[in-house]
Amino acid sequence: MQRRSFLKGAGAVIVVAVGGLAWRACDQGVFSVGQGPAYEPWKDWRKTDDTPLALVRAAILAASPHNTQPWLFKVTNSGIELHIDTRRNVGALDPYLREEHIGMGCALENLLLAAPANGYAATVTLEPGKLEPIPAEPKPQLLARVELASGQRAQSELYNAIPLRHTNRGPYDPHKAISPDLLQALTGLPGDDIDVKVFLFTAEADRRKIAELSSTANDEIYSDPKVQQGSHPWVRTKWSSVQKYRDGLTIDAFGLPPIGTAIAKTVPLRMLNWLGSHSETHGYVNLMLSAPVVGFIAVRDRYDREQCLKAGRIWQRTHLLATARGLAARPCNELVEMVDHERALGKPAMRVAMLNEITGDPTWQPTFVFYVGYPTLKANASPRRGIEAVVM
Ligand SMILES: Cc1cc2nc3c(=O)[nH]c(=O)nc-3n(C[C@H](O)[C@H](O)[C@H](O)COP(=O)(O)O)c2cc1C
Repeated sequence: MQRRSFLKGAGAVIVVAVGGLAWRACDQGVFSVGQGPAYEPWKDWRKTDDTPLALVRAAILAASPHNTQPWLFKVTNSGIELHIDTRRNVGALDPYLREEHIGMGCALENLLLAAPANGYAATVTLEPGKLEPIPAEPKPQLLARVELASGQRAQSELYNAIPLRHTNRGPYDPHKAISPDLLQALTGLPGDDIDVKVFLFTAEADRRKIAELSSTANDEIYSDPKVQQGSHPWVRTKWSSVQKYRDGLTIDAFGLPPIGTAIAKTVPLRMLNWLGSHSETHGYVNLMLSAPVVGFIAVRDRYDREQCLKAGRIWQRTHLLATARGLAARPCNELVEMVDHERALGKPAMRVAMLNEITGDPTWQPTFVFYVGYPTLKANASPRRGIEAVVM
């Protein structure tokens, strides 16, 4: 009798526990990856109403640091102005908004790729200027004007890759090299622009050096409480926040296998933080080394506004071309973020010296670091605010 009531009691506990777990899993969107309003912009981006808004729908699918989406667009029938919303920043992680400006360049690139696809000929004018520390009272600033005239309709390979491009933070296949032709196409992306250059590193010794320096930079920059304070609010661990704010870094985009993603979304936040802090010490180095190629996008002046936009355009093109050819890619920018950090804190420019040593040419200033290779896991989409939130 006692045994029977014990079993009944145990059964009830299990039912409640499993029920609670299933409820938590549903509430945290374990069964809704890529669904809900936050992901609609990836689905309706080709919607055309014969206005330049079609170009904005493509622009908002671009990359941005911590998925901050710092863009605002002023749209008329004859053109689009791109403004940076400087309130959407990650604080001390990006003290001069250098990365936010690069993100604006990414959006500009998608917008320009969408112009011919929608029958427009586009002419761009960039606003000159130098980057400054984050203003005390941030407000939108005009960065670029795109004039639109009627043009020939044409869809490019890069345009068609826009909805397929996602930052892939999973491991890559270390045994699959990238063909020399494709490497040449990637280094050739800046064309005749004398302000931007792509450096690619394939040798194990070079990649290991960059990976180790990036890992050390990662530990150092994120140990600064001010950096944590600026970047943590952009990490969205609650599914309800993902759907409400439609921005930031999500667990779905961490690059875990599907079962790992489901567990990470279900466990309490404190446990997730504990797991993160106890992850493999060399995890980041090994992850970077799983990719056969590490790259730098370099400019002549890291703190020149136009050159930041140009670097962003090249990153977007790089990632789109990689995507179109079946490759995956991920930025890994801690080393350059430390350049900003040392500058902002008035410390010796150690990372500038390290980067110069790697390129062997101090006349080029690396402003974006990435790796590229063949994926072993599919990357998930990240959330996006709709055009109604970003049109001025
Ligand atoms: C300037 C810039 C810097 C970035 N730095 C990093 C980085 O260091 N590590 C990383 O994993 N992703 C980085 N990203 C990728 C963004 O987090 C990503 O674009 C954003 O979350 C949106 O996701 P999506 O690219 O998959 O659309 C960076 C993106 C930009 C534009």
